[in-house]
Amino acid sequence: MLSVKGLSSGYGRARVLFDVSFDVEPGRLVCVMGRNGVGKTTLLNTVMGVLPATAGTVTFEGKDVTRLRPHERVRLGLGYVPQGHETFPQLSVMGNLLVTLEASPHKDHAAIEEALEVFPRLKPLLKKRAGFLSGGQQQQLAMARALVTRPKLLILDEPTEGIQPSIILEIEEAIEGLHTSGLAVLLVEQYLDLALRLADRFIILDAGHVVHSGTAEELRGEEVHRLLAV
Ligand SMILES: Nc1ncnc2c1ncn2[C@@H]1O[C@H](COP(=O)(O)OP(=O)(O)O)[C@@H](O)[C@H]1O
Ligand SMILES: [Mg+2]
Repeated sequence: MLSVKGLSSGYGRARVLFDVSFDVEPGRLVCVMGRNGVGKTTLLNTVMGVLPATAGTVTFEGKDVTRLRPHERVRLGLGYVPQGHETFPQLSVMGNLLVTLEASPHKDHAAIEEALEVFPRLKPLLKKRAGFLSGGQQQQLAMARALVTRPKLLILDEPTEGIQPSIILEIEEAIEGLHTSGLAVLLVEQYLDLALRLADRFIILDAGHVVHSGTAEELRGEEVHRLLAV
């Protein structure tokens, strides 16, 4: 479904990603792991076109999207929730969802109800300004916004970072439910336990290189724990 081949990128003259290759098969949940600063966010930003690739290709459903703008990739079915749960703080929860629906390719209002079924905690908060939500509620809103576009592949950057434990569990259940219903997911996640519960396959990055990839069973090896420093 998503095929990344030989992808490199960086910031100005600083190269951060080197020759990264991996695939996400339909319906699979692939988790990207690695210590802080190894290039996980840079990888997701390059897959989405927020950052240009300096080499390599990103192919989605057989189409080369390497030169497409981020919103064009969204239209093709890539949903992205960047690190740090960005929302429009001055808009209400419903306002946030409506703005996203307006920008979505289908404009089907039912997509808002569907997203709220995944995050029922947002239902009593629809009139509240997003800026007044807790961090966990904002993360759920950011994910709900991505779902409103009805993505075929959902890309999540550390959705549980800095979130209170009770809501981490809800977010994990939401991801698991989406995955079970057949949505493909590309997840950056630091919590090894959560990643082991959710993921079909792993990619481990170190200094911008893929140093390990494989299944959950393979991830339990010692080498991997050294790479993650856990
Ligand atoms: N906007 C930026 N400008 C310059 N360097 C950056 C920028 N964002 C990240 N970096 C650098 O790129 C490297 C990878 O960062 P990042 O992809 O955010 O890592 P991770 O998500 O794995 O913690 C780090 O060395 C970081 O300092
Ligand atoms: Mg990051």
